[in-house]
Amino acid sequence: MNTIYFDPTVDDATRRHQLYQGQIFVYSPSPSSSALCAFAREMIQDAFGSLDPLKAQYSMPVEKYVEVLAELKPKFIHHSKSKQLIPGILEEFGCDLSKTYFDVPRLRTATSDGYLTSGIAYAFHPHRDTWYSAPFCQLNWWLPVYEIQSENSLAFHPRYWSQPLRNGSSRYNYHEWNKDSRKNAAKHIKTDTRDQPRPEEPVELDPQTRVICQVGGIILFSGSQLHSTVPNTAGRARFSIDFRTVHLDDVIAKTGAPNIDSACTGTTMGDYLRGADLAHIPNDIVALYDQLGAAGFSAP
Ligand SMILES: [Fe+2]
Repeated sequence: MNTIYFDPTVDDATRRHQLYQGQIFVYSPSPSSSALCAFAREMIQDAFGSLDPLKAQYSMPVEKYVEVLAELKPKFIHHSKSKQLIPGILEEFGCDLSKTYFDVPRLRTATSDGYLTSGIAYAFHPHRDTWYSAPFCQLNWWLPVYEIQSENSLAFHPRYWSQPLRNGSSRYNYHEWNKDSRKNAAKHIKTDTRDQPRPEEPVELDPQTRVICQVGGIILFSGSQLHSTVPNTAGRARFSIDFRTVHLDDVIAKTGAPNIDSACTGTTMGDYLRGADLAHIPNDIVALYDQLGAAGFSAP
C-alpha cells in the first residue's frame, strides 16, 4: 500500500486491481452519494427531533441515545430508498451493475469523548473485514454524512497491509455471529462483551493514515485493509455510511487481496445484491465460499 488516488479516471477493473494491492481511492461527492447522505441526514434529524444530532449526546442520557439509534439504524438499513440509491452511486463510479453486487448500507455513529463506544455505536478496534468472513474481493465504500475532521474519522494502518497480525478470526463464524450477537447489539451500552475478531498482539497504530473527504464523498478501500475508528475527541458525533461490493468475475475467479492472517469460517457472500436487479449471488457460488472459509483462499 503506497498510494491514495483522488478522483481518478481509471476504469473499474483497473481500480479493483489497485484496491487489491492495498491502494485507497477517494472521490468527490456524486449526485447519488450526495442524495444518500441527504436522505440519511433527514432520517437522523427526525430521530433526534429538536436536538442537533451532532451534539445530542450532551443533553441526553446514554440509554435514551441508544434507544434512538436502535430505532434509527435498522430503519435506514432496510429503507427501500437506501437500497435504491446505491446502484446509482455504483453507476456514477463506473461499476457494471450486471456484475457488481452490494450489501445494504449501514449507518454508523461515533460519539465524542467516550460517551458511547459499545454495542450499537461500536468504536471499531483495528480490524480487517476479512476477519469477519468477508471475501478477499470485498471493497468497502465509506461516506461521511456530516463534515468530518481528523479527530472523528477513520484510520488506516498501512504497515499491516503486508504484515500479518495474530488475531481471533479463527473463532469467528459469520452465521453463528448473525444468530447470536448482532441482535443483541443494542444491549451492550457500557461494555461490549461479544467475542469479535481482534488483534491478539500489540498493534502499532502509528503511523496511521486518516483521509478526510467532503460530505457525500467516498473513501474506497479493500476489506483486507486494517482500519479502525479514531477515538472521537472532536466534541461532536460522527455519522457515516458504509456499504460493501464484490464483482462477480472476481468472486468466480477467487481474485482479491492476499490473505495474510484471516482464519474465519462462513461467508458474507449470501448478503450481496446485484446492482441491476437486487438478485443474490447464485447459491452454488456462495456455497463454495462457505466450504472453503478464509483459510481456503490464498494470495493471488
Ligand atoms: Fe470494517
